[in-house]
Amino acid sequence: MLVDMKAILEDAKLKKYAVGSFNVYSYETIKGVIQSIKNQKIPAIVAFGEKYLKNMDFDSVYRCVETLSEDIDIPFSLHLDHCKNPANIYRAIKSGFTSVMYDGSALSYEQNIKNTSKVVEVAHACNVSVEAELGSLASGLNSNEGELSDEEIYTSPSQAQDFVEKTGIDALAVSIGTVHGMYRGVPNIRVDILKKIKEKVDIPFVLHGGSGTPEEKLRDCIINGICKVNINTEISMYTLENIKQNLNDGSKYHLSDISLMEIDLVESIVSKYMNILS
Ligand code: 13P
Repeated sequence: MLVDMKAILEDAKLKKYAVGSFNVYSYETIKGVIQSIKNQKIPAIVAFGEKYLKNMDFDSVYRCVETLSEDIDIPFSLHLDHCKNPANIYRAIKSGFTSVMYDGSALSYEQNIKNTSKVVEVAHACNVSVEAELGSLASGLNSNEGELSDEEIYTSPSQAQDFVEKTGIDALAVSIGTVHGMYRGVPNIRVDILKKIKEKVDIPFVLHGGSGTPEEKLRDCIINGICKVNINTEISMYTLENIKQNLNDGSKYHLSDISLMEIDLVESIVSKYMNILS
């Protein structure tokens, strides 16, 4: 059952669990995530990033999700991940996405507020939820998020309060030490900063850079207000590594066999995260 993200995240906030947001860019990745929702019976977010528009367009993603989820009564959202171009946000909404992330984190604070507020106005008029980001994550190993820097800019708790009040967003992506991609060393997750943000802001928080984050750190973050955890790199690494191993087992494979393998492997790693987070 395709719903807006706000409904899913408010339930997670109330009951102190987090919803996994899993990146998709093909029929196989979409089917893998949808199969996990169906078989685990756990709400989730199917996330398609603007940077994957070379792989699929918004209409195709929406139609694929709609068709594959016809018999699913577990709530889930179709979310536009990391979008810097407002025109793409409006295209995704028109195609049927139920949630969008406007990423103005690289802009000046004032410009980020201005652009995010405009996106909120349009999206809310269409019953679509909005996530936005303050601060920015460093780039780790094997990240596919694009031109990110090595520098982590932590979210300022007082700025977070002002930002949420001025923009009216539904969920805030915070920067507290996770990285996009795999960690280069021991993760230093600043739950102390998260706690300070929580004292000032009462909306669901989003943790980007979920891949490779130790389970106990994820749990600590969830207890302190994280309601959505984004996973991309680990799905790709796990699936690719297993496909590579299978290809070397001496059997003959057809490309269609690889497609089936990919769907099952995506389902397996996504299901693992769904159970850790819920
Ligand atoms: P990872 O690639 O580190 O899992 O991060 C994904 C993400 O935050 C997508 O928005």
